[in-house]
Amino acid sequence: MFVADRADEPGADRLPALLRRTVDGTVREVARVEAKGVRSVLLFGIPTRKDPEGSGAWDPEGPVPRAIRAIKAGHPEVTVLADVCLCEYTDHGHCGVVVGGRVDNDRTLPSLGRTAVAYAEAGADLVAPSAMMDHQVRTIRSALDRAGYPDVGILAYAAKFSSGFYGPFRDAAGSAPAFGDRRAYQMDYRNRREALRELALDAEEGADLLMVKPALPYLDVIAAARERFDLPIAAYQVSGEYAMIEAAAARGWLDREAAARETLAAIHRAGADVILTYFAGDLDPSTEGAR
Ligand code: PBG
Repeated sequence: MFVADRADEPGADRLPALLRRTVDGTVREVARVEAKGVRSVLLFGIPTRKDPEGSGAWDPEGPVPRAIRAIKAGHPEVTVLADVCLCEYTDHGHCGVVVGGRVDNDRTLPSLGRTAVAYAEAGADLVAPSAMMDHQVRTIRSALDRAGYPDVGILAYAAKFSSGFYGPFRDAAGSAPAFGDRRAYQMDYRNRREALRELALDAEEGADLLMVKPALPYLDVIAAARERFDLPIAAYQVSGEYAMIEAAAARGWLDREAAARETLAAIHRAGADVILTYFAGDLDPSTEGAR
């Protein structure tokens, strides 16, 4: 869910699950999906003001901390995850601090730690670092422990590929890079062994769940991860995967429900224990096949 100070207008040219909502609108949406059986939500924030450092990410009055507090107050049973990245908060749209035209991995780490602590303070159950900086899991784990949040877990975007499927997300989050691309920190999709090495590093650094992202084009990586690691494996069916089905269904070319369910079943069959999907609030879990 995308939390912003200003919501999209009704009828905005955006897919329903990618709509920007205010804190109040987010709480209403949580109530709606909770009634449908959804037990966890992942939050992304869209700040009003961006700067080179991405300092809005750790502002306790930013959209994400405010939404976490409001959700926890009204819906304490819902597990709240907060994405930890700087790209929504930097004016250049990169996931880290830029020095001399390049993303500086090590200068970014303290900001990620600080952001995770701000979300833990607000009441997040898990944080989900997605910046793909080396050692982000270790940095966040120790920042959380030092701040007194040893029970806040980490869902690590461990194998996150530099993908053509993030377009609708970047549009919703306003986080497309202003120059260059993310290939220096996200992974080369031709390289499966590197993906497994990234997963192993995050496991060693203290991740509680390991995520592969995107999902459907990477079923082989999900299957390999399930074989190799004991941790729960998560898979993120990203915005472009969702948009493909929605767009084809809108033209009458695909049966939306059938196609969505088949992809989710495939991701599960490949070995994902947890699936993050924009269809979560839409598919009726009581229907046959949904689980
Ligand atoms: C932030 C982030 C991205 C996504 C999740 N966290 C965008 C990106 O890496 O550009 C993409 C999710 C989606 O496409 O649904 N770094």
